[in-house]
Amino acid sequence: MTNAKKLKHRALGTGGLSVSAIGLGGMSLSGVYGAVDDAASEDMIRHAIDQGVDHLDSSDMYGWGHNETLIGRAIKGRRDRVVLVTKFGQTRREGQQNGVDGRPDYVIQACDASLKRLGEDVIDLYYQHRVDPTVPIEDTVGAMARLVEQGKVRFLGLSEARPETIRRAHKVHPIAAVQTEYSLLYRTEAEETRETTLALGIGFVAYAPLGRGFLTGKIQTLSDIDGRRAAHPRFQAENFARNRELVAQIEAMAADKGCTPSQLTLAWLLAQGPDVVAIPGTRYAQRLDENVGALRVKLTPDEVERISQAIPRGAAAGTRYPAGGMPGVYV
Ligand SMILES: NC(=O)c1ccc[n+]([C@@H]2O[C@H](COP(=O)([O-])OP(=O)(O)OC[C@H]3O[C@@H](n4cnc5c(N)ncnc54)[C@H](OP(=O)(O)O)[C@@H]3O)[C@@H](O)[C@H]2O)c1
Repeated sequence: MTNAKKLKHRALGTGGLSVSAIGLGGMSLSGVYGAVDDAASEDMIRHAIDQGVDHLDSSDMYGWGHNETLIGRAIKGRRDRVVLVTKFGQTRREGQQNGVDGRPDYVIQACDASLKRLGEDVIDLYYQHRVDPTVPIEDTVGAMARLVEQGKVRFLGLSEARPETIRRAHKVHPIAAVQTEYSLLYRTEAEETRETTLALGIGFVAYAPLGRGFLTGKIQTLSDIDGRRAAHPRFQAENFARNRELVAQIEAMAADKGCTPSQLTLAWLLAQGPDVVAIPGTRYAQRLDENVGALRVKLTPDEVERISQAIPRGAAAGTRYPAGGMPGVYV
């Protein structure tokens, strides 16, 4: 077995959890943005671990179990080098918008099902993927805390929770991390959330840090868009040209800096504060290496400011999710 390289680590919360500052988001390995090959994905995950990427982010709803099974297989023999992360709370409703379930009984049941698919005894960081507005957050987090007591879970997280929800949850049990979309294109809610997570000593996990691929510069025309991405307003014809113009500015600044647009984008995120880590998703080892290379890109405060000005807060055209998904985020 190859020994893992040491990558720059950052703490998530104050309870002792730490992860590589660049992680790997697993979602697109379950066919969300185009075709996948499981054997190649497993190799890629093992390559990531060998490069020192230990923050592996999954959810029970990525491929409705497929992603956890895949990651579980890929990490066999490498479990001690991985911070295993998954989520519960979205439920499948055929032909409709996903449901949410934050009832205490469901939390316990979902965790057992995830552990079984992963083939492991313990999840390092367990998130509520979407807040259930019909269940008090205290009840949901109370059940998550029982999982910690039982040794099934080590640390707790919330995804797309708004500041008030985070404060209430954190009173029940320490929250190690909040995961919310955060990139140069979409950062309004993330920046609001970070005022609270920073005050409470909670880590911030930036999801979709490459803007679902837009900020990589590889999406140049509408015909480059595949999979579920096509439903996202940012990629729709009425918004595409505006967003493309914004990305073109990042491409130009990356060229000046001698790095790729993905690297500039990730380096900008990590420069926002030591509480921030990013989990870009990719199917390819080469792109994973490129993304990890963002750790070598050092931005001066002036460069960070110029990048922020190039894509000002709120500049992206189109909401973060299609209309049906918006009520489920920032709850
Ligand atoms: N909590 C939540 O509600 C939530 C929601 C969404 C996502 N997430 C998490 O965040 C992770 C990342 O989000 P995401 O995958 O939606 O978006 P992302 O990381 O912003 O972008 C991923 C896309 O960028 C492409 N890409 C990645 N690196 C590249 C590179 N160096 N050059 C060119 N293209 C590159 C990938 O395509 P290729 O595969 O072709 O490289 C993929 O299509 C997910 O995997 C998931 O773990 C969480």
